Amino acid sequence: MKTLSATAQSSPNIAFIKYWGNRNAALRLPVNGSISMNLAGLFTRTHVTFGNRPADSLFINGAPISGKGLERVSGILDIVRQSAGIGLRAEVASENNFPTGAGIASSAAAFAALALAATQAAGLDWPESAISRLARLGSGSASRSIPSGFVEWKMGESDEDSFAVSIAPPEHWDLADCVAIVAAGHKATGSTEGHVLAPTSPLQAARVADAPRRLQLCRRAILEKDFETFAAIIELDSDMMHAVMMTSQPALFYWKPATLAVMEAVRSWRKDGLQVAYTIDAGPNVHVICSQRARLQVAAFLREVPGVSDVLQANVGGPACQV
Ligand code: PMV
Repeated sequence: MKTLSATAQSSPNIAFIKYWGNRNAALRLPVNGSISMNLAGLFTRTHVTFGNRPADSLFINGAPISGKGLERVSGILDIVRQSAGIGLRAEVASENNFPTGAGIASSAAAFAALALAATQAAGLDWPESAISRLARLGSGSASRSIPSGFVEWKMGESDEDSFAVSIAPPEHWDLADCVAIVAAGHKATGSTEGHVLAPTSPLQAARVADAPRRLQLCRRAILEKDFETFAAIIELDSDMMHAVMMTSQPALFYWKPATLAVMEAVRSWRKDGLQVAYTIDAGPNVHVICSQRARLQVAAFLREVPGVSDVLQANVGGPACQV
């Protein structure tokens, strides 16, 4: 009998136009589209084996995981089992080569690698769009870690057409991400709970209403490699998402004093002529986007900012792939 196993690898991604809030939480259908780039060199590698075992099991970096984490993985496996017509349970073993909880969205890489490994292990030969949709059901941003390079997740009208596509390959624009770590460890409120709070902010409606304009500006800035427009729109988008977070009920304040120190430093370096811009996810660490040429200099500058304990660096990454 053919072994029902496969291994896949996927990179995390950093959003330039953010996903914050769902119109359907169960299906993770977002209230706005989003744009991101994959982070090369950082990855989650996941091995899935279907077999005769009593239940699904999950190991992350060698440690067994149960409860909510395992339930979320089993939800994805159930869809794969149903589509492939198999009843077998799976062992899922996942390894990250970057620290979890360091402000890098580990769930994006994790669910993208799981979606690809599980479909391949079950013998399903699905197109990229279908694998992106499946990854979306585990974690919305995971849909964007399936295609290559610069990626847009179209909000779509339903489950069928809400998936991510590549808008430019990694070599299109030599950008890099320098992640200024100001606090390691797990974030206080995870994004799944955060999406639920988004509509409680009176600012969310305005953020969502303006999203098509920001998406268009960001998409065009990437295609035309227009850093000035790109910097202005990604900082605005990040600030708008954090304004929503800070005005939700209960309020979510992810920033630390060092977060703001990095934001101010980035703005002043840009004024001095350096091509840099910041964006911040649901945590205190700051993703500083710059050109690959400036990467080492930007990382060195960031290490001098008081409160920055480390800087992770990544160029633009490729698609999720089987290994
Ligand atoms: O995919 P989730 O549910 O972990 O949400 C991601 C939310 C942000 O990272 C804050 C924004 C984004 O678009 O990645």
